[in-house]
Amino acid sequence: MDFEGYAAEEVLYILDMAINFKKKGYPDSKPLSGKSIALIFEKPSTRTRVSFQVAIAKLGGESIPLSVSEMQLSRGEPISDTMRVLSDYVNAVVARVYKHEMLSEMVKYSSVPVINALSDKFHPCQALADMMTIKELKGNIYGVKVAYVGDGNNVCNSLIQACSLLGARISVASPKEYQPPEDVVAQAKEWGKRSGGTIELTENPEDAVRDADVVYTDVFVSMGQEDERERRLKVFYPKYKVTERLMSLAKPDAIFMHCLPAHRGEEVEASVIDGKRSAVWQQAANRLHTEAALLLYLLQDGKKFNPSLSV
Ligand code: CP
Ligand code: NVA
Repeated sequence: MDFEGYAAEEVLYILDMAINFKKKGYPDSKPLSGKSIALIFEKPSTRTRVSFQVAIAKLGGESIPLSVSEMQLSRGEPISDTMRVLSDYVNAVVARVYKHEMLSEMVKYSSVPVINALSDKFHPCQALADMMTIKELKGNIYGVKVAYVGDGNNVCNSLIQACSLLGARISVASPKEYQPPEDVVAQAKEWGKRSGGTIELTENPEDAVRDADVVYTDVFVSMGQEDERERRLKVFYPKYKVTERLMSLAKPDAIFMHCLPAHRGEEVEASVIDGKRSAVWQQAANRLHTEAALLLYLLQDGKKFNPSLSV
């Protein structure tokens, strides 16, 4: 799943379903009974893996967690062969990969839905839970101002997509060489014409957070970028750290968001992430409900599977 190919109404429907699960609990009918879902991980995960497994269990389905290192993929079996075979066993594949192109390959050879559980380009499942959290805490997504401060990375790209699809205003503050990619920005401007969403890019965190309803950040060094750590910290730290002082420039009732895992003292001050305005625990908890709603939408709700919707 990525937001490309999705209508705003579909995403809002998934969010409503998730909010409903949270409020009223999961259906006794076990709607995913008899369905098996493979979860393939090329890199570490706590929230994504556990929330998907628990969501699948709550809906009566079976999850098959797989680490790439224990699959024949790690010994050179082509992704095409792997996906052809898996498609005959399971009803969906959830995959966390290094290269986004690997997901595109998976979709090409899969006859079941492939859900992006994070690639180097996007993290759509995170953005679904982020939108749910904004809806809960701000009452709305349309018109809300989201300031993203830091690396224009996978989390930022999916946040941009979700905001521009649903009519939120996003302002991204990143160093020049770490701004979100041009194709994502161009797409956001295009989607914004329909939704009313807007996107602004700046190198100045203070400009981005002014009057924001939400201040969001992510790590300066993502998984797979460990070799770049020293260079990245020189560029990002301390200018792009979310501090109490930076938060004071946002609206008085602004919330702080972070996809986690976080590095206190690096991209965020401990008193911000552990303070009253932090929504990070609610955000992480919501992953369970949005993961469940997405699976049900793709597998049970009669949505005709279209591979182009999948990554
Ligand atoms: N936010 C998130 O995706 O966390 P994990 O890496 O723990 O899955
Ligand atoms: N940008 C981070 C997100 C982790 C959930 C990474 O890719 O490592």
